[in-house]
Order: sequence, then structure tokens, then C-alpha cells
Amino acid sequence: MTEEKIGVQNDAEIETIEIATTDVDENEKIGAEDTTAKDEKKESDDDYLLVVNDLKEYFPISKSLIKSNTVYLKAVDGVSLKLKAGHTIGIVGESGCGKTTLGRTILRLYEPTAGEVIFEGKHIEKLKGNALRKMRPNFQMIFQDPYSSLSPRMTVGEIVGEAVKVHHIVPKEQYKEYIVDIMTKCGLQPHYFDRYPHEFSGGQRQRICIAKALALKPKLVICDEPVSALDVSIQAQIINLFKDLQESDNLAYLFISHDLSVVEHISDEVGVMYLGNMVEYGSKREMFDNPLHPYTKALFSAVPVPDPDSKIKRIVLQGDIPSPANPPKGCKFHTRCSECMSACKLFQPKFTDLGGGHYVACHKYDQKVLDEMPFYDELVKLEDERNAEIDEMKAQKKQKKEDAANKIKELLKIKK
Ligand SMILES: Nc1ncnc2c1ncn2[C@@H]1O[C@H](COP(=O)(O)OP(=O)(O)O)[C@@H](O)[C@H]1O
Ligand code: SF4
Ligand SMILES: [Mg+2]
Repeated sequence: MTEEKIGVQNDAEIETIEIATTDVDENEKIGAEDTTAKDEKKESDDDYLLVVNDLKEYFPISKSLIKSNTVYLKAVDGVSLKLKAGHTIGIVGESGCGKTTLGRTILRLYEPTAGEVIFEGKHIEKLKGNALRKMRPNFQMIFQDPYSSLSPRMTVGEIVGEAVKVHHIVPKEQYKEYIVDIMTKCGLQPHYFDRYPHEFSGGQRQRICIAKALALKPKLVICDEPVSALDVSIQAQIINLFKDLQESDNLAYLFISHDLSVVEHISDEVGVMYLGNMVEYGSKREMFDNPLHPYTKALFSAVPVPDPDSKIKRIVLQGDIPSPANPPKGCKFHTRCSECMSACKLFQPKFTDLGGGHYVACHKYDQKVLDEMPFYDELVKLEDERNAEIDEMKAQKKQKKEDAANKIKELLKIKK
């Protein structure tokens, strides 16, 4: 777990993803250096169920008639990933870092600002009307709160079956048998068919939500904190259900959670997000055994370890997460990073594969930036000096104004 361990071992299991952050020149992006690499990348894209390229979701927060004056909150700021059928990518990060927005934008519940979402070779971001509707059953989302996502006036059978009818998933005569089968698979007894959601506990309601999603025979399920609202004992049951269903139906999951132990249990690969960017990505083992990014290290150090002799020191992050509406310049994490260097305040780090598909966006691992650090030190020193001068000039100006105002007051007093 040391910082020096930059070289990452090859792991045969790592195969599902490639990720890049924004603010990196097109020709600096992973695999973009030569056309051969591009061709190879294109070929291998066919092996993936879902390919997300440089996805952005910006929410306008102050509109202006002049488009360039509109201020945007960059909730997702250039995320790329690749997911294979039957695999799980866990997405972690503090609240507000863009996890839910990423999930919703992939599923076109939000219109993407930019980027590509390719599902089984089809560009989802370009689909409209009927073509998009036809694709919808393939990708489903399960939310954190099973209480609000179920209509209280519909029976379990109606809830699970509603979209099955709309999308003509099975012929009419097989409908009830099909729904009961799905319910049973999700641990719901057949006689629940005519009962209402309020009659069930949180865990059972989440099972209803899972059955509802599964009834459409999806290939991709985006699970957004699906067990966070449940008791710990129930969480384990639901996670095991997710795993069983993945095995039986070859489902792919994008599993969003702030609970790292849950993510460790269910994921093949893990991505860490910070202020709309992916800052580190790798196989589950690499990420948990050898986290490299200072943010990941801090995040993962908070996971309780069963071994009382463990030497892992808890790293407490300083300060609150900055607003994505006004993120810090340079590395977005620099205002909270204990290892911040001059270059970190100047420009955003590149998202780089350090070996075996372990990607990290941090200047500490960029030898070229480290070599050029004296130059950046000088630059930041000059900038600091200039800022100090400006501050002093401002303070002097303010003082002058105050002195003048006081003088006027005194003169007025004398006149009276
Ligand atoms: N519909 C929206 N309109 C404007 N801002 C939004 C919207 N949805 C989310 N946000 C903002 O985008 C950022 C990321 O939110 P979210 O994706 O929900 O984060 P997470 O799921 O990681 O907690 C937050 O600052 C949030 O306030
Ligand atoms: S780039 Fe700099 S500020 Fe950002 S995580 Fe790395 S060391 Fe910290
Ligand atoms: Mg969320």
C-alpha cells in the first residue's frame, strides 16, 4: 500500500474498462496516440455490453440569453467506462460527486450534454422516440428508496407486470405464470401477487423493485445505493440475490454505493469519482490492496478492518467537498490533498494506466510533471507573490477610502 508502488501487476481478471477524465487533450487520451491502437480499441469495444465515452452532464444553474454566459454545474465531467456482460463495476465517492447523475445519464433519464453511450453497438445518446423506447427494457435502474418507487395503489403482481404488458415481453396467456416465476426467483412468494406494497418490509419491497426490473429481461442494471436504506442483515440477503441473478441471467451491474464493504463484495472493478471525474479505476483487488490516488487512500482508510493488528492508518479528509458549480482550478482535489504540489494548483492530472488496467489521475505518478516541478514551483511562487501584491494594493486602497471617509466625517463635525 505504499505510494512508491507505482508499477501494478498484471491481473488476468482485469478486462472490462477504460476510463478517462476531462481536460485532457484529444491526442493525449488513452489509446489515442496511434491509429493501430485506435483500431485495436475499436475491435475490442465489440466485446463490451456498454461503452461510455467522455460522458458529460452539465446542469445550467444560472441561465443567460447569451449562451456563453450561462453557468453550469458539471455533475459528470467526462467519464468513460466499459462494462462486459456478467460483470460488475462498483462506483464509489462522497455524496454529490456525480454517481447518480452518471447512472441516470447512461440510461438517458437525463439528456447527455456530450459524450457517447454505446449499448450493444448502438449509440443510445442518438436514439429518439420509438427506437429509444424499444431499447429501454434492456437497461433498468434500481433506486435506493424502495418505499417511494412503488405505487401504493397497485398490487405486487401489477407492479412487476405493468411494463411486461407494455413491452409485450411474453404472450398474454403466459403473463401470470411469468410474473410469479420472476417473483419466486427474487424470493417473493406467489401469494404476494395480490398484496400491496405497504404490507411489506423494506427488504421485501426492494425485492419487488428487483423483480419489476428483472421482469423486462434487462442485460444491464444500474443499482443506485440499492441497499443503503435497508437493515444490515437484510442488506446481505439482497446483495446475495443480486449475485445469484447475475450468475443465472448474465446480468451486468453498475453498482453505485458509498458503502465500500458492499462494493468490495459485489464488484469486479471499482471506479472512484470526485467532483464529476473518475480519479482512479482498477480491478477490485488492486483498488483495495494498492490504492494510489490520495483521495482513494483516504476513502478506503475509513473502512473498518477486522484485524486488530492492522497498521492501516485512518486518513481524515480536511474540509468539505467543494461545490461542483465552482470546482477548484487544477486538480479538483488539491484543496483537500495532503500531498498537494505546485503543479496540482495549475492543471488537471491526466488519467493514466499505470499497468494492468490500474488508472489514476494524479501528478504524483507522472514522471514528466515531477521532472518539471521546479518550473511549476517557480510559477506558483510568482503567482503567489503577484496575488499577495494585489491583496496588499486592495488593502491599501480600502484603507485610503476609509481614511478619506473619516476625514470627511471629522470636517463635517468641525463645521457643525
Ligand atoms: N437535476 C439536477 N439539477 C441540478 N443539479 C443537480 C441535479 N441532479 C444532481 N445535481 C447536482 O449534481 C451534483 C451531483 O449529484 P449526484 O449525481 O446526485 O451525486 P451523488 O449521487 O454522487 O451523491 C450535486 O452537486 C447535485 O446537487
Ligand atoms: S494531483 Fe496533486 S492534489 Fe491532486 S491528488 Fe495528486 S497529489 Fe493530490
Ligand atoms: Mg446519489
